[in-house]
Amino acid sequence: MIKYFSENKAFMISGRSYSYCMYVNQSGYLQHLYYGKKIEESDIAFLIKTHGKSLEPCAHDINADMSTDRMPTEIGSFGKGDFHSATVIVRRSEGDAMSAFKYVSHRITEDAIKLNRLPCVRKADETLIITVKDEYSETEIDLRYSILNDSDVLVRNLIVRNNGTTDIDIKKAFSFCMQLPDNNKQYSALRLAGAWANEMNPVVTPLAEGTLRIESTRGYSSHEMNPFMAILQDSCDECSGECYGFNLLYSGNFAITAETHHNKTVRVQGGINDYMFDWHLSVGEEFVTPQSALCYSNAGLGGMSRAYHDFFRECIINPTYVYKSRPILLNNWEATYFDFTDEKLYPIIDEAGKLGMDMFVLDDGWFGKRNNDKSSLGDWYVNDKKLNGGLNSIIARCKKNNLKFGLWFEPEMVSEDSDLYRAHPDWAIAMKSITPSRARNQLILDLSKKEVVEYVFGAISKVLQENEIAYVKWDRNRDMTEFYSNSLLPDRQGEFAHRYVLGFYDLAQRLTTAFPKVLFEGCSGGGGRFDGGALYYFPQIWTSDNTDGLERAKIQWGASICYPLSAMSCHVSVCPNHQTQRTVPLETRGAIASLGILGYELDIAKLTEEEKDKIKEQISRYKQINNMILQGDLYRLSDPFISDYFCVLCVSHDKTKAYIVGERFHSSVSIQNPILKLVGLDENTNYRIEELDIIASGKALMNVGVPYPWLHECESWIWHVYEYTAKWRN
Ligand code: GLA
Repeated sequence: MIKYFSENKAFMISGRSYSYCMYVNQSGYLQHLYYGKKIEESDIAFLIKTHGKSLEPCAHDINADMSTDRMPTEIGSFGKGDFHSATVIVRRSEGDAMSAFKYVSHRITEDAIKLNRLPCVRKADETLIITVKDEYSETEIDLRYSILNDSDVLVRNLIVRNNGTTDIDIKKAFSFCMQLPDNNKQYSALRLAGAWANEMNPVVTPLAEGTLRIESTRGYSSHEMNPFMAILQDSCDECSGECYGFNLLYSGNFAITAETHHNKTVRVQGGINDYMFDWHLSVGEEFVTPQSALCYSNAGLGGMSRAYHDFFRECIINPTYVYKSRPILLNNWEATYFDFTDEKLYPIIDEAGKLGMDMFVLDDGWFGKRNNDKSSLGDWYVNDKKLNGGLNSIIARCKKNNLKFGLWFEPEMVSEDSDLYRAHPDWAIAMKSITPSRARNQLILDLSKKEVVEYVFGAISKVLQENEIAYVKWDRNRDMTEFYSNSLLPDRQGEFAHRYVLGFYDLAQRLTTAFPKVLFEGCSGGGGRFDGGALYYFPQIWTSDNTDGLERAKIQWGASICYPLSAMSCHVSVCPNHQTQRTVPLETRGAIASLGILGYELDIAKLTEEEKDKIKEQISRYKQINNMILQGDLYRLSDPFISDYFCVLCVSHDKTKAYIVGERFHSSVSIQNPILKLVGLDENTNYRIEELDIIASGKALMNVGVPYPWLHECESWIWHVYEYTAKWRN
């Protein structure tokens, strides 16, 4: 619910359990008042009197401008006494950029506003649009707040409009600005940091005076830093305490900053990275920033995660797929790498069928003359030296085995040794006078050019039209360098990084619209583009190239802080693991992969009969719990980063069943196993844990708990928990 109180010029936005309040102060600024646990409408006057007035710039004070520095604002202005970094910086033709953004008007609509060319929420109950105008120019900004009444996520972005008579240059345009008060407690920031094959490590650091900035400058959201930050109050842990999440629905260069002022307040802002960014805005034009998803939780990090999971499932991920069972697939990458022929693939396909899988996916190497990573990206036609019968014979073999067929593409890339590059060298990102940096021997196509997007759309469409393809793995395997487009004027090169992202979204939008029956899985050398923008097009994303049963548990744990299990594509691979050389039992690899969209990525034809039986069993058990993975509520029980165990619980909405997966991370000698207290169950329901053959009330399972199983390192357990309906008490 969004309410405007005209007598105080105040706004109150209320979601499921939070309130967000602001008002127009005496000087006309939109001043932030409160963000936290839900309060009453009647509290607005109290908020203004005690939390608003004392921080307002005082009209009679000659230092009034300087006092904007301590005013909590909804949009930071530039160069007029607010010494925080500004939210929007616009340079005018005379070279000046001073700004003071003041309230003009507002409106409330019932629509979820569609963003042109950017991913955005698919639904909202209401949207508040507040227009502010710069006191020194004709630049106007719309601040947008969209809500679902039953959600704890608040969606924000802003739009910059040039209403003046001369062109302007946007030097910075973040999507949101929000300020937390000094509450006499320590704030900490959590980020999801990592690297290739080691994505999404939660890192928590206390905030102190100065700025904590997380960002990507790699052209995409990156393995190294997810576009997400949480601010935790000092008592916040997994199950209790207050925290705030800030997630950007954006797949390109981003930045999120948490600025601790000398008076201990914290201003959090985020959006498109302003580093090397510059956008020319002609008279009458507007610039739309990506949406951000803010989340308040008073149920700890776990509460925040569940709110984000609901949000991504309900508002971002394609509704056709979000709650639909996804195919359990066999991917040939780690089974064969580039070294395959159709004859070599047949036994793998036959075995996938026998084991009850749903799909076979042919990964990299099927096109052009690609036998290694040195050639052919961009030549999306079959390598008939490898596949004598083209894709047809593979697809026929799949059909014979009752399997659907999926195919790998890397649409945004080009190899210099390719027909595409020979025909259009100017389509690759490079600047003539500078040798382009190669990574994995490849260059990136300049998707800021319409004709390049058109070509890639045509080339991929042709393959999808001519073949029965049910799934596409959309990969992207290198960082961007040489940010430059030969189609942009020299003074417009600062627009390139964002224009590329718009081109990527355009291509993704066109392909997913033209082929609605094809399930598109996102990938970027694993989780290099695992973000809310990509999830709009790709209902699932390959979480990491690291499939080691131990490391993967940590990566999935980190990813679950923001993203739902149904977004994580997870495969069982061979041992010793190709990334870590570690050997982890097949049971454990299966258990960890079952906490997402299950798949397999190994030469199953080479397995023993005993291993094949285990896989058959994993598949049939997964099909029984699949709905909980797609729709359930996740509770993280034991943190592998700080304890000897990994353990999570996924419970159905009606709390009649739960699925628990755990893994022993470190063995230490102890004479007694620790106790695992379950959470998220219904206190008054009686449950049976199948594997332990015990029956107990939710109250007992959550308050008394169950001893952890006695296990060796890397061993795991799965517990199926069901409501026990028989009369069993006396
Ligand atoms: C990336 C992906 C892998 C695989 C290879 C193929 O690394 O993450 O899963 O598809 O590319 O080259």
